[in-house]
Amino acid sequence: MLVRWKLWLPAAILLMVLVGIAVACGGDDEEASPTPTGPTGSPSPLSGKLEIFSWWTTGGEAAGLQKLYQLYPQQCPGDVQIVNSTVAGGGGDVARQVLSSRMQGGDPPGSFQIHMGHELLDSWVASGDMESLKFLFDQQNWANVFPQGVLDIVSKDGQPYSVPVNIHRANVLWYNKKTFTDAGLQPPKTFADFFTVADALKAKGITPLALGDKEAFASVQLLEVTLLGTLGPDAYKGLWTGKTAWGSSQVTDALNTFKRMLSYTNSDHASLTWDQANDMVIKGQAGMTIMGDWVDADNKAKGFTNSGWVPSPSTSGTYDALSDTFGLPKDAPNRDAVICWLKVVGSKAGQEAFNPLKGSICARTDCNKSLFDPYLQSAMDDWSKDSIVPSLAHGAAASPAWAADISDAVTAFVASQDVGALQGRLSTACKDSGVCS
Ligand code: GAL
Repeated sequence: MLVRWKLWLPAAILLMVLVGIAVACGGDDEEASPTPTGPTGSPSPLSGKLEIFSWWTTGGEAAGLQKLYQLYPQQCPGDVQIVNSTVAGGGGDVARQVLSSRMQGGDPPGSFQIHMGHELLDSWVASGDMESLKFLFDQQNWANVFPQGVLDIVSKDGQPYSVPVNIHRANVLWYNKKTFTDAGLQPPKTFADFFTVADALKAKGITPLALGDKEAFASVQLLEVTLLGTLGPDAYKGLWTGKTAWGSSQVTDALNTFKRMLSYTNSDHASLTWDQANDMVIKGQAGMTIMGDWVDADNKAKGFTNSGWVPSPSTSGTYDALSDTFGLPKDAPNRDAVICWLKVVGSKAGQEAFNPLKGSICARTDCNKSLFDPYLQSAMDDWSKDSIVPSLAHGAAASPAWAADISDAVTAFVASQDVGALQGRLSTACKDSGVCS
């Protein structure tokens, strides 16, 4: 099946190139085990500690990660002790701060989770702190199994710097099917539908929209999908290239809609995490939550089977994408063990084990679709035909500094509710990034 991937980086880096790629179309062939070899080419057993750094601490996230850890000794013979180094906090804001001080202090973990795109390329790749993985991509023939658009976005000057383990979708509205059936409601397709449904839920004493923005990414992501639904994919992408003005009336409309959506959320949103917000939906205390498809993993880990999903309001036909990747820091402790970790992460077996539990689809194109649940199968179908746009809240759309400015502006807005002030700060942030004149 063919996927059109519209690249995420600014125009200078091949933005909006359409690439035909195959995705998730069966095929069970086992690839060669990525056995490490010594200088003579003979297998050499691995040993010592291997530290893997991430923010995957919730049930579904941890379950997926454990699958990779379980595969490691099968694919990497020896006696390596994996150190699961996690810093809790959805979206990774806290983890990135810890990582930053470690990298700057010359104490890198063996490998760390980082989002594909700007978050990777504008940070540790730009500062020269990562090893090129061209040798590994060549050795594993990964040019043949990852979509060209994905290869481009993990690469700088033709050198790949990280291995993508998955593709996540940010623009999903999750709802409790029983709550909706009991209330005689249909899942909303448009913003107008959303507000109708929200009013009906409110009238029944149910919180319409669960939000957990203890970590700011959750409200940034709600803004992102509201911009996407209001502007459409092309104008949304233009926000990240300077083509769409942040001061435009369309953006004002989106911000007003965002403000209105926030008025339907739980009053304690600032003290809840994204997964605690999902708990409100699971328990029937809230009708909906708008969150990435790691909610699918959270539901699975919690045994909740009555979840429905639709694209977030007015975003049908658009896939707001992000990807988790792992790289090789220069001076990584136990380099050989890290390289074998990266082979596991990029392997068919690794991606087929990890993604069904993580609520994501493979970054590879050859995973066996039958291993995935109905939501993920639908995501694979959408990935193959939708318009692909980059996620702001998860490192794909904007440089880390620009994304941080936006996040600060959104956090201030959630308290102040001042649309004019938010729009002014968003316009300034674009100028400060150098993208807008
Ligand atoms: C995203 C990450 C996902 C998921 C989510 C919530 O940034 O890409 O894998 O972990 O945060 O923590």
